[in-house]
Amino acid sequence: MTTATWNETLEALGVLPTSRGASAGTWLDTRGPELVSYTPSNGEALGRVLQAEAGDYEAVVRRASEAFATWRMVPAPQRGEVVRQLGEELRAHKESLGRLVSLEAGKILSEGLGEVQEMIDICDFAVGLSRQLYGLAMHSERPQHRMYEQWHPLGPIGIVSAFNFPVAVWAWNAAIAAVCGDTMIWKPSSKTPLTAVAVQNIANRVMDRNGCPGVFNLVIGRGADVGELMLADKRLPLISATGSCRMGRRIAVVVGERLGRTLLELGGNNAIIVMNDASPDLAVRAVLFGAVGTAGQRCTTTRRLILQKGIAKDIVSRLLKAYEQVRIGDPLDASTLMGPLIDAGATDDMMAALDRVKKEGGEILCGGKKLDCPGHFVLPTLVRVKKGMETPKDETFAPILYIYEVDTLDEAIAIQNDVPQGLSSAIFSDSMRSTEEFLSHRGSDCGIANVNIGTSGAEIGGAFGGEKETGGGRESGSDSWKAYMRRQTNTINWGKDLPLAQGVKFDL
Ligand code: UN1
Repeated sequence: MTTATWNETLEALGVLPTSRGASAGTWLDTRGPELVSYTPSNGEALGRVLQAEAGDYEAVVRRASEAFATWRMVPAPQRGEVVRQLGEELRAHKESLGRLVSLEAGKILSEGLGEVQEMIDICDFAVGLSRQLYGLAMHSERPQHRMYEQWHPLGPIGIVSAFNFPVAVWAWNAAIAAVCGDTMIWKPSSKTPLTAVAVQNIANRVMDRNGCPGVFNLVIGRGADVGELMLADKRLPLISATGSCRMGRRIAVVVGERLGRTLLELGGNNAIIVMNDASPDLAVRAVLFGAVGTAGQRCTTTRRLILQKGIAKDIVSRLLKAYEQVRIGDPLDASTLMGPLIDAGATDDMMAALDRVKKEGGEILCGGKKLDCPGHFVLPTLVRVKKGMETPKDETFAPILYIYEVDTLDEAIAIQNDVPQGLSSAIFSDSMRSTEEFLSHRGSDCGIANVNIGTSGAEIGGAFGGEKETGGGRESGSDSWKAYMRRQTNTINWGKDLPLAQGVKFDL
């Protein structure tokens, strides 16, 4: 793609050569340090953002708080109508926004478009949800009493998102939070500021049209400045954050200290188990997408492959063949399967992880190198884990797949669970006994456990998130909306007496 076509994409989304870094109804006149966004495909500058500073942050929070007072009183189905229009705007801009995601985050176009589709899908989901924010009704133990629970909007909330899903993860939070009656302040990754500017332009149009400014707000700024302000800000009852375990730990401490709520979706260390009776064709296709897709930079990326001995040789030789054929290059070229890593730091992290493998006696079966060209390209890499080698406990955001061999399912499950993270997991097997064992209480300890599909590429309808150091939060579908609301239990006495619960007597 040429610079001229980049400019067309940026123009179509209203992204200026130098954009402002904060929006609260309108774009603020930010004057903070300039942030340059480089495309990871060749390192050229795509655009610039004048970042938000403390004063801008304050203006945005004030606006979001004022807007909350009005927005929470708009009936939920009408809030759903605004989110429906957001989905329509996203449909209209799917192509250009998908391209911008590819340009700025480096994922292939099909995945960039898929990410925008995920935004559209969650808007549709949220529209339906806007008529289904159900509370339960309970039977009171007291006569002529009624007891029920209702869900109220929570407040202005903070959303922190990562570079690898620069727009979809915002939408998971934003669409649901908006129908729940919350307003929000989004702090995107500093590695992908332009996609955030583009999305904010779309959201601003929808808010203008509906006369509800201040529902969706943006601050692009340094973690040490606006990020820290946001975490410590008592006006934000919830911080929903996606990122590394290290970042999550910091957020949990600062928000926990003020007894605020967090919704954390942190690192994964996801494994696929392949049993002897699995379909090798299905398994290899799933492993390839899981380990190589998005250049290994999804939190759901398959990082470990646990093979039962009888099928191991076949799977490894098929994978070696498949890895050789992976076309690496410009993510916007339709024939490319793997784009670059996000930046030089990411390639350094990958090489450091491979140095550890060599030191510990692991065998690099293929890949293991940076490509000698502009941009941050690497070869997808297979590592055979040798006896005595430590299971990698950290998430390295890169296409490295560690391969283990085991005799039994019990052994496979033990290896799969022997990491600090608990996001996604999968088993390939045609035996009901094995798959049900994997899904049982003593099976996978992850938030996501799949059978005969890979670890990544979850649908928005399910609750998304994981256990242990993945942080325990759930975003997106199912009943994740409850995290964005406050629950109130109401007991109503419509009788003429005042009986006390538990039969307590307290009469004069
Ligand atoms: C992430 O990497 O933070 O399940 C989110 C998936 C995508 C979302 C990934 N739907 O792979």
